[in-house]
Amino acid sequence: MRQMVMSETLWSALLRYRETGTLPAARLRAEAGWQLYAPLVAHGAERVAVAQVGQSLDGRVATPAGDARDISGADGIGHLHRMRAMCDAVIVGVGTVIADDPSLSVRAVPGRSPVRVVVDCNATMPAGAQMLRDDGTPVLLIRAADAPASHARGTDEIRLPRGPAGLCPAAILSALAARGLTSVLVEGGARTIARFLEARLLQHLHVAVAPLIIGSGPTGLSLAPVERLAQAHRPEISTYDLGSDMLFDCRLAEATPAAAATRRTRSDEHRPEA
Ligand SMILES: NC(=O)c1ccc[n+]([C@@H]2O[C@H](COP(=O)([O-])OP(=O)(O)OC[C@H]3O[C@@H](n4cnc5c(N)ncnc54)[C@H](OP(=O)(O)O)[C@@H]3O)[C@@H](O)[C@H]2O)c1
Repeated sequence: MRQMVMSETLWSALLRYRETGTLPAARLRAEAGWQLYAPLVAHGAERVAVAQVGQSLDGRVATPAGDARDISGADGIGHLHRMRAMCDAVIVGVGTVIADDPSLSVRAVPGRSPVRVVVDCNATMPAGAQMLRDDGTPVLLIRAADAPASHARGTDEIRLPRGPAGLCPAAILSALAARGLTSVLVEGGARTIARFLEARLLQHLHVAVAPLIIGSGPTGLSLAPVERLAQAHRPEISTYDLGSDMLFDCRLAEATPAAAATRRTRSDEHRPEA
């Protein structure tokens, strides 16, 4: 397990790398924070998609009544905001907007808020959502071509064909990439992450575990059932002690050759120097 110590120098180097691609000294590239966050940045033709879940020891993300606000500790929140600051866009399902009304901005660290993207297949985005009355960061709604016309003030819309399983996650990422949003954080909820994960579009899944036991309530990930443990995902993991929370950085096997090539290039680039 590596201890996460995020100095101002390292964070500034990560922000510079995100903006300009400038690599810092090898000493900084060997630090845990570089290893964790630099792979979230996409440059040139690269594409990166990662997901993050903040959960309790027993895998819950809310109580059965929907109280979800303070599961992650301060360091877990800091980690989430660093992930947002590294990415071009943050995606949530409309279920998360209805349940939690998040602003999806970067507040806990210096950095730019990502474009907010809501998968809003049937145009049910609440008109009074917090993210719509925030700081002017763009909000993009991903809707089915046949969804009712409904314009939420301050939003832009992408229409995609509705398939048998809803909107194709790969088409969502391609539509975002066409707008220059190539580094994407899928922040929840369970069904939205599941669709990207099952389509094998995610390079990393970050699971931040906070030391509390809720006992019942929704989980952070909801995949199709498997019969045997041999069918379970067994990702390669790196663990980080964030302070208040423990982080599992799960590296997922991607299906697309382009994504795999990207990952090979990036992991070579980010390997610490001996
Ligand atoms: N702790 C955390 O890290 C965290 C972060 C975010 C949210 N949450 C929690 O997650 C819960 C909400 O999760 P949820 O699973 O209920 O909702 P969700 O994933 O936020 O949103 C689900 C909605 O988005 C739609 N959707 C997502 N991807 C789609 C696609 N590719 N095509 C068509 N529709 C798509 C779903 O359609 P369908 O109805 O067709 O599935 C559904 O209407 C809340 O309890 C919230 O607190 C926790």
